[in-house]
Amino acid sequence: MIGDNGGTAPMIEAGELQKQYGDTPAVAGINLAVYPGEIVGFLGPNGAGKTTTIKMLIGLLRPSAGVARIGGFDIQRRPLQAKALIGYVPDQPYLPEKLTAYEFLQFMAGLYRVEPAAAAQRGEELLRLFNLTERADELLGGYSHGMRQKAALAGALLHNPRAFFLDEPTVGLDPRSARLIKDILRGVADRGTSVFMSTHILEIAERMCDRVFIIDKGRIIAAGTLEELRAGGAGSLEDIFLELTGGAEEAAIAEALS
Ligand SMILES: Nc1ncnc2c1ncn2[C@@H]1O[C@H](COP(=O)(O)OP(=O)(O)OP(=O)(O)O)[C@@H](O)[C@H]1O
Ligand SMILES: [Mg+2]
Repeated sequence: MIGDNGGTAPMIEAGELQKQYGDTPAVAGINLAVYPGEIVGFLGPNGAGKTTTIKMLIGLLRPSAGVARIGGFDIQRRPLQAKALIGYVPDQPYLPEKLTAYEFLQFMAGLYRVEPAAAAQRGEELLRLFNLTERADELLGGYSHGMRQKAALAGALLHNPRAFFLDEPTVGLDPRSARLIKDILRGVADRGTSVFMSTHILEIAERMCDRVFIIDKGRIIAAGTLEELRAGGAGSLEDIFLELTGGAEEAAIAEALS
């Protein structure tokens, strides 16, 4: 099933997606397809174009060229239909500090027009899933970083998105929370949602994703399951990643330390 396109339509698609800032292409022609039930990692070094690509896929940023489709709907031409399918957790989620977690979920339900009874039930379920039930009546302003991440995830899952985007979801999470989020994402994917997460941390991609796209300088330079990527050469994903991205970090670290 993973990566299998036999008869199944992709949930997330990019065709020659580009973003130009001045003379520099931040994203230089990305093609990809993600199918229902997959957890896909968008792996690349800092500045590779991950956030820019995600923002174009979800309609927050207008591409310089190319097309993005969610559930077959062009995000620029059919934004309402496409966006109804999307859940998004940015790298720095905005949370209303003056709301409790409980109120925040109600607010998100209103935003996505989830019917109140269904929203209440799903909200309880998500709070429980993220171990936030006991603190659900506290203001988000008093939440720790990890708790905020979890609240943001819960809010983005309330309307049951079919295409779930997360930009660096595990930054600053302790191992237990990272594991919890991994399990929750697997559950979400198992119900047929496509999960698309960016990360610059190899281990995260290795542990959480069914398939990875490696992006460097605005282009996808490798794609496949970890087995497929490893088949090209021996070694860990780290070796492959550093090899493909020219070992830039390694060289930079060596230089800085010399
Ligand atoms: N608004 C902007 N104006 C000009 N350049 C931008 C803008 N946004 C992004 N860029 C440039 O586009 C490139 C890709 O940035 P992007 O944020 O997509 O990278 P990233 O892969 O998400 O990196 P990170 O791992 O650091 O989050 C970078 O060179 C960045 O400086
Ligand atoms: Mg980024």
